[in-house]
Amino acid sequence: MTLPINVPLELPEPRTPDPHDAPPIRWGVLAPGGIARTFAEAVAVGTASSVVAVGSRSRERAQDFADEFAIPRAYGSYEELVADAEVDAVYVASPHSEHRDHALLALGAGKPVLVEKAFTRSAAETREVLAAADGRGLLVVEAMWSRFLPHYDVVRHVVETDLIGELVTVFADHGQHLYPGGPARLSQPELAGGALLDLGVYPVSFADLVLGAPATVSATGTLTDLGVDATTTITVTAAGGAHAVLSCTMAAATPCTAVVAGTEGRLELSGAFYGAGSTIRLVNRNNEVIDERPGGLTDDVRGFSYEAAEFARCLVAGETESPLMPHATTLRVLDTMDDVRRQVGVVYPGE
Ligand SMILES: NC(=O)c1ccc[n+]([C@@H]2O[C@H](COP(=O)([O-])OP(=O)(O)OC[C@H]3O[C@@H](n4cnc5c(N)ncnc54)[C@H](OP(=O)(O)O)[C@@H]3O)[C@@H](O)[C@H]2O)c1
Repeated sequence: MTLPINVPLELPEPRTPDPHDAPPIRWGVLAPGGIARTFAEAVAVGTASSVVAVGSRSRERAQDFADEFAIPRAYGSYEELVADAEVDAVYVASPHSEHRDHALLALGAGKPVLVEKAFTRSAAETREVLAAADGRGLLVVEAMWSRFLPHYDVVRHVVETDLIGELVTVFADHGQHLYPGGPARLSQPELAGGALLDLGVYPVSFADLVLGAPATVSATGTLTDLGVDATTTITVTAAGGAHAVLSCTMAAATPCTAVVAGTEGRLELSGAFYGAGSTIRLVNRNNEVIDERPGGLTDDVRGFSYEAAEFARCLVAGETESPLMPHATTLRVLDTMDDVRRQVGVVYPGE
């Protein structure tokens, strides 16, 4: 039987400004590892801003990074980087275990800070960072890059306008084969490793974007012999009654898709739902695809320019948080992940 359709036949346009149009700021990169390279390239090719300094625990690594990206100043310590008077903002790209200390270091030096995901190891650490930023009136933003991408704005807009009716359920998964044999920061408890903080943060943050605060969270996980989670599955019930089923694993590559299903239709996000190349489909409740928006961006570098641009806009406007990644959301995501870790039994050293 074909049901009468109430869904309008179009996905909304993203309201996301061109990253090149954001005002220029001067970045300092703290911890020049893998993702810092993507960020430095994104700032250079995708924004009007520039990276003017880099700080590493090793002077040599800082210099190599500076040479690669034509960055004028290279420091052999993070302290020197944050003390640079010509750095407007610091991008923290160290492992999760270090985010709290490095964000506090930057804030203590009076620098606004963009902190890689997961924002910190725990909600308690997030509260410390947010309190320090608040006390100094400084901008701090979680670098959950997906939140700043155009297709996330389409999702936001669809939810705000009830385009697919009352929300019923959300599915999102993020699995990459990164263990065993992948980077140490994923396998090591002292670096706050595991699938949840690295990969699961995307589905958790996506469900929060769509459904808001969770009312209940339940989780099961399989731990590695070092006690971090290799695979975790989470079910969330939102305050309004909708459900989410979220999964992450660092032991297998999964499709990395997301679905938002409502009474009138659904959104399907394919091609790594959190990434710049994700395609969104609008499907009606008779399972007919009625609109499709290809991601367009084929590389992460262009995708990263959106978060850098949003940060620059907020900084120049005198904001202390981004409306696209509010502090309350960052904290709620960490609260949810704390709850999940308690249930699956992941405790990091020193907690
Ligand atoms: N947004 C994304 O798509 C995305 C993708 C991958 C990773 N990330 C996030 O970015 C952060 C870094 O990930 P990554 O893949 O870039 O890691 P990575 O390649 O290992 O780089 C991290 C850097 O942190 C510095 N560091 C400081 N303290 C450290 C310690 N105790 N142990 C190891 N390194 C330490 C090191 O630089 P120096 O010693 O030279 O200072 C290292 O190169 C994580 O929060 C991760 O979740 C985000």
